[in-house]
This record gives sequence, structure tokens and C-alpha cells, in this order.
Amino acid sequence: MPNLYVSGMERLSGKVKLQGAKNSALPILAASLIVRGTTILHNCPDLTDLRAALKILTSLGCDCSFCENTVTVDSRNVTGEIISEDLMREMRSSIMFLGAILARNGSATVTAPGGCELGPRPIDIHLKALEELGYAVEENEGYITCKKSVTKDKVEISLNFPSVGATENIILASCVSKSRVIVHNAAKEPEITDLAAFINRAGGKVYGAGTDRIEIFGVSRLSSVEHNVIPDRIVASTFMSASVVTGGDICVSGIIPEHLTAICSTYRELGSSVTIDNNELRIVSDSRPLGIDTVRSSVYPGFPTDAGPLLISALAKAEGTSVFVETIFDNRFNYVDELKRMGADIKVYGRLAVINGKSRLSGAKVKCTDLRGGAAAVIAALSAEGESVITDIHHIERGYENISGVLRSLNAKIIKE
Ligand code: UD1
Repeated sequence: MPNLYVSGMERLSGKVKLQGAKNSALPILAASLIVRGTTILHNCPDLTDLRAALKILTSLGCDCSFCENTVTVDSRNVTGEIISEDLMREMRSSIMFLGAILARNGSATVTAPGGCELGPRPIDIHLKALEELGYAVEENEGYITCKKSVTKDKVEISLNFPSVGATENIILASCVSKSRVIVHNAAKEPEITDLAAFINRAGGKVYGAGTDRIEIFGVSRLSSVEHNVIPDRIVASTFMSASVVTGGDICVSGIIPEHLTAICSTYRELGSSVTIDNNELRIVSDSRPLGIDTVRSSVYPGFPTDAGPLLISALAKAEGTSVFVETIFDNRFNYVDELKRMGADIKVYGRLAVINGKSRLSGAKVKCTDLRGGAAAVIAALSAEGESVITDIHHIERGYENISGVLRSLNAKIIKE
């Protein structure tokens, strides 16, 4: 397995084109299973998680190709309804395929997606919602089997937490059905809006995505469709952190400004100049970042939990003390020990991290503990004196397309070998 070798303290500058959003592409690929025809999906990032989704689609009978960020899925001959344990474990968001197989077949068998670097990732909200939709759900020795048992004209589901994945699974399971489904306390993330836009373009009727009340009128079929995946707001925040820690001047093109509102206002508090002109963001950081009193992750439109590690890497170099409160996941701070190896002064108390900014970090050998934690280690390495070796980069490759090449194009000294 290759590593990343980073020589820090280079000032980054230049322009990058933002990749498509992994968390949008994956549920849309699940939705392609429901389409009775061909899906052409542009702006798909080339990531290991995307490749894993294509393997699942292929195992279910789809004909898939992936060329220059465009995925084509022909799902006319879907026959399968079982996803093997190996495929389920390859990508944790594989649970999204459950709703899609149900819409297509009325029954499905998958395994629990298993543990996760961010702590246990239960799917109780997903399964309870499927029961409310009229599916009988059985769990047996790690396998979950769902079968349509009742067809209801109208279903109202109130989520006890606005889970992104559960909202997506409800939309997927009910977009082709005989039911009208209303979801209260739905997740409002842009990736939900993108999934609904895809389904509607294919002939579905999903209304209210982006609000906490989503209404789905089941249709009889989805037809061939072409769609562009939205840009990745978390990857955008990664380049913003890279600018902050290197005193850089980075333009990120292809953004959707409203997706970045909370992120931009937080980075302005760090003292960087953040300007947006149409779909291009420029972040100029010419002095040491300032600490921020308290930042809390929260559901959209709040500060995203996935952007937390990238912000914390920047706060590790800030003047003063900052506090980050993680409100979504139990176990999000595993990467902090790796940042400490570079000299960062961060103390974790449960879901709270206290970051005492240091004027210098030093290069070290660090490992990626998870996707965003791995990216945070890269950001810290860019700002550290000397060389860092970053191992276990398969985590980063789940979510970043060619991170070393893109950072090199901004003047970073980083190689993968
Ligand atoms: C998605 C994103 C992930 C992001 C998260 C929050 C994908 C592939 N992943 O994850 O990157 O960090 O949204 O924006 O899109 N929960 C339960 N029971 C459930 C479902 C969730 O207790 O059935 C809990 C989780 O443990 C977690 C919280 O709810 O504490 C948030 O989970 P959820 O919004 O479902 O996140 P994901 O869809 O897993």
C-alpha cells in the first residue's frame, strides 16, 4: 500500500476544480437500480467507494461503465435482491441499496453494514421506517431480510433524528410504489435534494427535499435519465483548510455557494478572506489563523460534522484556544492522536475537543484513522516543518480523487509512493 510523503511549509496557491460529491453520487447510484432503463451520471468522482457501489450494482445484474467521471448504468436486467456480506462491508453506505432493491423487487436481503471508524453506525431508524412503509423486517445472524407485507395508501413517518441515510432510504424505497409518504423531521442536506432531483428527472414525484417535510408520491416507474452530481462541499472545506494552514491563496471553482454558508462564515472567523464570485470561491490567508471560541457540528445548514477534522487541523495552528463540539457522531476524534504526533495540543473530552493552537507543528509518521481524519492529517502535514509520512491512505481514497496530484498542482510538496 503506498503512503503519502509531504514536505510541509510550502505556501499553496492556484485554482482547483471541485470534484463531485461522494455522498450524493452513492445514493444516486443506488437509485439507478430502480430506473427501468439507463442512467447517465456525470461529475462522479473516481473513488474506491464509487467503485464499490458499481460492484454492488453489477452483482445485482446491472451493466455499468465508468469513464472520465461519467458513470453509465443499464438496469434493465436487474435480477438480484441479495447483497453479499463482502460487498456490504466494502463500503459502509451500502445500506442505501436496501431501499433501492425494495423499490425494484419488493424484497431484499443485505447484511448489517458493520462497525465504522466513527463509532457504531446503527440502522434502527432505517429499519423502523421501512416497517412503517409496510415491510416485514427480519434480522437473523447478521442478515436483514425485508419483504413487502402491506401496501398502504398513505404513510406518515416522523424521524426521531434527521438521519441523512434513513431519509435517503425512505425516498428510495417509496419513490416507485403505490403509496403517498410524508417524512417529518427529514434530513435537509444538499445530498438529499440532489437525490430527489435525480428521481424527479427520471419521472418520480418527490417534493420538499431540502426542508424537514418531504412528501413522496409513489409512481409506477422511473425511466432513463441523465444527471450531474453536485459538487463536494466537504472537499471544498479541505482546500479552504489547506489555504489557512499554509498562508495560501486558493480558488475553488465549481462550488454551489449556499452549500458552503456555514463553512465560509467559520473560515472568516479564522481571519481568512473568503470571497465568492458566481461559482468560484477564493480564500486568502496571509497571517496565522485566529482561534474560535466554540464551533459545534450540526445537521445542515449547520457546520457539517465531516468538515470538523479539517477545521481542527487549521485550529491546531491558530493563535489561542478553540473548542469544537461534535454533536452527530460518538467517536469522531480518533485522528486527534495522529495530529498530536506532529505536536498539536488537543484534548478530547467525550464529544468535545479543546485545541490550543501552536505556532509550529513538526513532520511525523502518522496514519489515517478514517476518511476525514486522514485528510486532516494531510492538512496538518502541509503546515508542519519537515517531512511527514502518512500511512493507511486507503481511507482518504474513499473520498478524495487524486488528492496528492491536486495538492501538487497548488504547489504542495506531496507525493504518493
Ligand atoms: C451521512 C454521510 C456522512 C455524514 C452524515 C451526517 C453518506 C454516505 N454519509 O452519514 O458522511 O457525516 O451523513 O451528515 O452520506 N443514527 C442512528 N440510527 C440510524 C441512523 C443514524 O442512531 O438508523 C445516528 C448515527 O449513529 C449518527 C447520527 O444518527 O450518530 C447521524 O447519522 P446519519 O445522519 O444517518 O449519517 P449517515 O447517513 O450515516
